[in-house]
Amino acid sequence: MVGLVSATIVGAALGCSVNRTAADTPESFEQARERMVSEQIEARGVRDARVLAAMRRVSRHEFVPFEQRAYAYEDRPLPIGYGQTISQPYIVAVMTEALELDGSEKVLEIGTGSGYQAAVLAELAAEVYTIEIVEPLAERAASDLKRLGFEKLHVRAGDGYRGWPEAAPFDAIIVTAAPDHIPQPLVDQLAVGGRLVIPVGRMFQELVLITKDEKGVRHEDLLAVRFVPMVGEAEKKR
Ligand SMILES: C[S@@+](CC[C@H](N)C(=O)[O-])C[C@H]1O[C@@H](n2cnc3c(N)ncnc32)[C@H](O)[C@@H]1O
Repeated sequence: MVGLVSATIVGAALGCSVNRTAADTPESFEQARERMVSEQIEARGVRDARVLAAMRRVSRHEFVPFEQRAYAYEDRPLPIGYGQTISQPYIVAVMTEALELDGSEKVLEIGTGSGYQAAVLAELAAEVYTIEIVEPLAERAASDLKRLGFEKLHVRAGDGYRGWPEAAPFDAIIVTAAPDHIPQPLVDQLAVGGRLVIPVGRMFQELVLITKDEKGVRHEDLLAVRFVPMVGEAEKKR
């Protein structure tokens, strides 16, 4: 498994050209997406067939700013404005796989960003709730998700630290910004039998999987990652 996965802004696209095939003809978005899944995700060990199929279906290029479209299927995060990023495709796949979704779940995401991760979740679960603290990002994601026909999705602008109590409990929770501690309200809103995946730490973080059963809560470290920090109430509790 790869040691460190970055989900931070990587700066300006450095002289990247549109992907080219061996014959030096431009790749279509579909071809680039297929290559993204096979070379960046399957080849690194993601095995869940439903996750792989969802990553093959969702058009990542629809969730990035127009000038970033040519890079949409590259192995890295991309800037989406407001100092935020769409996460690296591989990390989206790893976090989604860790949730072990079977299609029946109600899922909460903290950190909507572009809406791409929410779209992947919507392909795999019964209902998705997602919260984004930067209001214009929440609005843009909601409008993109609607335009692309994603249903079963509820987008809210606000601080996700306290979760979405009116819709709790959730069978799965995914956090895509890093606090330096695990927000207790999210653990409280996890259903018994549920799974929560969250990057925890400051400069560098550990991706932590939390599972809940009748006996209590268990933590498991999955891999080292790098995400943008969770802001708002999470910072005040440091
Ligand atoms: C790495 S980006 C998320 C990428 C996103 N999941 C996607 O698919 O594009 C992290 C996002 O978390 C948001 N965020 C940070 N702190 C937050 C908080 N307390 N509540 C909700 N969103 C937060 C940021 O504004 C940013 O958009």
